[in-house]
Amino acid sequence: MTKARKTPEELRSHRWFGGESMRAFSHRGRWRQLGFEPGDYAGKPIIGIVNTWSEMNTCHGHFPERVQAIKRGVLQAGGFPIELPAISLGEILMKPTTMLYRNLLALETEELLRSYPIDGAVLMGGCDKTTPALLMGASSMNIPSIYVPAGPMLRGYWNGKTLGSGTDHWKYYTEFRAGKVSAETVDEVLAGTARSAGTCMTMGTAATMMSLAETLGMTLPGASSIPAPDSNHAVMATASGRRIVEMVWEDVKPSDIMTRTAFENAITVDMAIGGSTNAIIHLVAMAGRVHVDLPLTRFDDISKTTPWLANIRPSGEHLMEDFYYAGGLRALIAELGDLIDGSCMTVAGTTLGENCTNAEIHNDDVIRRVDNALSPDGGTVVLFGNLALDGCVIKQSAADPSLLNHTGPAVVFKDRADMEARVDDPDLEVTPESVLVLQNAGPVGAPGMPEWGLLPIPKKILAQGVRDMVRISDARMSGTSYGTCVLHVAPEAHVGGTLGLVQDGDLITLDVNGRILNLHVDDAELARRRADWRPHRTIPERGYVSMYAQHVTQANKGCDFDYLQAGMAIEEPEIF
Ligand code: FES
Repeated sequence: MTKARKTPEELRSHRWFGGESMRAFSHRGRWRQLGFEPGDYAGKPIIGIVNTWSEMNTCHGHFPERVQAIKRGVLQAGGFPIELPAISLGEILMKPTTMLYRNLLALETEELLRSYPIDGAVLMGGCDKTTPALLMGASSMNIPSIYVPAGPMLRGYWNGKTLGSGTDHWKYYTEFRAGKVSAETVDEVLAGTARSAGTCMTMGTAATMMSLAETLGMTLPGASSIPAPDSNHAVMATASGRRIVEMVWEDVKPSDIMTRTAFENAITVDMAIGGSTNAIIHLVAMAGRVHVDLPLTRFDDISKTTPWLANIRPSGEHLMEDFYYAGGLRALIAELGDLIDGSCMTVAGTTLGENCTNAEIHNDDVIRRVDNALSPDGGTVVLFGNLALDGCVIKQSAADPSLLNHTGPAVVFKDRADMEARVDDPDLEVTPESVLVLQNAGPVGAPGMPEWGLLPIPKKILAQGVRDMVRISDARMSGTSYGTCVLHVAPEAHVGGTLGLVQDGDLITLDVNGRILNLHVDDAELARRRADWRPHRTIPERGYVSMYAQHVTQANKGCDFDYLQAGMAIEEPEIF
């Protein structure tokens, strides 16, 4: 349905700046302090550029330049650009985890857009949680919005080998723990990896979420695959600035773009790219903001029928720069054919199908053809069982195939500190067949559900040449990681989930084909343990963490705050 074009008097900003009220005089007058006079902005869409740059965010180093490119585009199209700095969630340096602050950025985005005279938003993100947070906030506010993805770094190099961020770090660090490589080598590997601006260039959470934002229709066509330092990235930023101005006049809102069908397309692409397990949590949360319910079973249904095509680390061989040269996301979507509903509208004003018409695969080892897929089904699998009544996930494409159907005795760590203290203890009773269990690392229990799900292999097992074991937790895992790691167990241990009742020696079965995670302890014994169970730690009483713990939902519900999910009206501020 085509909407009527807005008039200047219908702009949201007109409520602040139009007319002859005392406040309107004041708003116009005081903006002169910044050198802005009505001739600059009156009757024009005011575009808020929500910028998640800071010198603590290793992946957004090019944002100061890109802001200028976006502003150029906004001005070219007859809008007025305003930069709005927002909390910068830098995955590397922010502790205990950026996940603790995803909802804070979402809330900040919503409130920035709500409280200021903003007609349309450009959302600048990329490093892991910034993408879902910005889209969650903007879709709750539901004013015209376009997402500018940071883009991946250039590929890494060391000693004649290509390196993937995260993935190769984990690999070389494991060899360091096994005594096979030196600390100098680990340093050199990291130096060879971090060679440009941009996000991790493996198919980690950042690349996954940028790809899914494009699939959802929230970026210009092809935007998510462009490496950050490529001149085409600046061109895309300027074009996004131009486009958002038109979107305001056309009144194209996130609710017009982020539909149920668009989310189903995003799940399909997530499976086809071998995307990060974190994407499941983020997609559920993002969908929850626009009245779309995404049960975990829907991910599994789509996983069963979607081939894995993107041969990118950590599951595959190549890197995001190769993916771009191979045709990028548009080529992959085109290859998926009827598995994608191409009728969904995008911010470009064209459909997803139209955006991908004529997209070609230029290297069919990097982006596989459907008839030569890396696997006939998707990378991520959802499991249920008495150990995960509300579900959990495993990235089967990044796991040792020999462990995907495995029964073994549990070795339990009560929390991260317990694990750090004992995992390399020579007296730890563990064998390669053991199942390592980490409790109290979930949304409430950690809190913030850190990426602790890649439990380290005990040194005595590494010494036997073993590099993978079954590991289970209520934590998440970096999208750049690999291993047989069962993640996001819900309900988590801290809120009384069965995971918190597991004891050393209990037998656990992981059956990926059967979609089962079971603890072999009878109900009477579980009831006895439950009667003795107490929460492992006290949640802080003050500050943001206290609020977080009181309102965060479980992993299967997206870890959003209960009071931010769709259903409550967003009120416009009164202007007096
Ligand atoms: Fe920013 Fe990986 S650390 S995307």
